Amino acid sequence: MPLSNPSAPAPDDRGQCKTIDLGRKVAAIEGFWQPRVVAEMNDYQFKVVKLEGDFVWHAHADTDETFLVLDGELEIDIRGVPSAAPMLSLRAGQMAVVPKGVEHRPRALGEVKVLLIEPRGVVNTGDGVRTERTAQNDRWI
Ligand code: NI
Repeated sequence: MPLSNPSAPAPDDRGQCKTIDLGRKVAAIEGFWQPRVVAEMNDYQFKVVKLEGDFVWHAHADTDETFLVLDGELEIDIRGVPSAAPMLSLRAGQMAVVPKGVEHRPRALGEVKVLLIEPRGVVNTGDGVRTERTAQNDRWI
């Protein structure tokens, strides 16, 4: 985008053109199940989050969702996909993509640190579901 475009956000505003230390970012989060955006790529957001215990069953009708484990061990229960195992087990350095519309329930074994990759505006507890675990969207760290 030309520099003369006044509506163009500064690259730095979206976490771009800089080194992002995921470990440092996620360590600065207080509380669990509170995703924080660290950068955007087109309409997608990269979010770090600390997890502990079981999440709720939910699905996202309009988007796939990527989980990349940074630290710890995350299990994700999967419902209704005959070709998939009913549970994924992810350790640090491993990732999985949950397809849109598929019911899933993340479960953290101890404390787990995760990078989520999904479009801007996705509600963490899924479509039409509001629980005590529903997090405010678009909070940056
Ligand atoms: Ni989800």
